[in-house]
Amino acid sequence: METLPKIVIVGAGRIAWHLSKRLKGKGLPVSQIFSRTEENARELAETLNTAWTTNPAAILPEAEWVILAVRDDAIQGVASAIAPFVSKALVTHTSGATAGNVLAGCFERFGVFYPLQSFSHEHAPVWSKIPFCVDAALEADLLFLKKIAKIIGNLVYHVNDEQRVFLHVAAVFANNFANHCFSIAEKLLDEHNLPFELLHPLMEETIAKALQESPARMQTGPAARGDADTIHRHLALLYQHPEWQVLYNSMTLDINPNLAIGAIDN
Ligand SMILES: NC(=O)c1ccc[n+]([C@@H]2O[C@H](COP(=O)([O-])OP(=O)(O)OC[C@H]3O[C@@H](n4cnc5c(N)ncnc54)[C@H](OP(=O)(O)O)[C@@H]3O)[C@@H](O)[C@H]2O)c1
Repeated sequence: METLPKIVIVGAGRIAWHLSKRLKGKGLPVSQIFSRTEENARELAETLNTAWTTNPAAILPEAEWVILAVRDDAIQGVASAIAPFVSKALVTHTSGATAGNVLAGCFERFGVFYPLQSFSHEHAPVWSKIPFCVDAALEADLLFLKKIAKIIGNLVYHVNDEQRVFLHVAAVFANNFANHCFSIAEKLLDEHNLPFELLHPLMEETIAKALQESPARMQTGPAARGDADTIHRHLALLYQHPEWQVLYNSMTLDINPNLAIGAIDN
């Protein structure tokens, strides 16, 4: 990058911590942290050895890129609060579930810089494996975001607002719902004094195959086979967990809509 952009991060949560440290590590230091809670803003800024403020009017007037790393439902409010003090900068949020357009009324140059991964305070992200989904109102800003994403990560995709909301729904299925299924499996084994490790190789194989091939083609099990007797037995075994029966039933029918399951014997 020829000249270093003046970067301001808004927020001091998980994304703000990880992103600011990565930017700094790649020679793109953050010039200021602006966040609503003094303690959190100061703690992050001190780690980065940079400036901080809780006052929107004190945001660096020379800021060139403002990254809104606040909760989804706070993006619009924070954008309105800082808009009078950020006139020329490119302003992006980091949310997969929020349209970039929510920034349109506040800023001329706006966009999205969404790292598609689950970040937590405890785990160091593997940046080379994180897809950065970027978008911007202006072509030059899109190029800038792509360049930055390439510097701090490796995988860069141009994803527009409409695509991103569906990507986010897909991510909920692939991550949250898949994980919830793992958690049901763990509880079931626990109830019957079996260790969860028993399922680890199967889980690993499932993920490995889904990454190699279309998961739809890799589907096995009673639903895919149309094995109605086994499905009935499974549903009956789940009688103490009617909520899991409902999940099992709808998953089964979604895998194989031709199955006639009939009433469950509780
Ligand atoms: N974490 C992830 O895995 C992940 C992945 C991709 C994208 N994202 C996106 O990144 C953004 C930030 O997520 P996060 O995980 O970093 O959240 P987080 O750890 O919960 O931190 C949220 C930050 O937002 C601030 N905030 C919350 N409500 C606010 C309000 N009403 N006004 C002003 N500031 C407010 C908080 O300030 P305080 O410090 O004062 O509480 C905190 O600094 C979200 O848009 C999220 O969708 C997150």
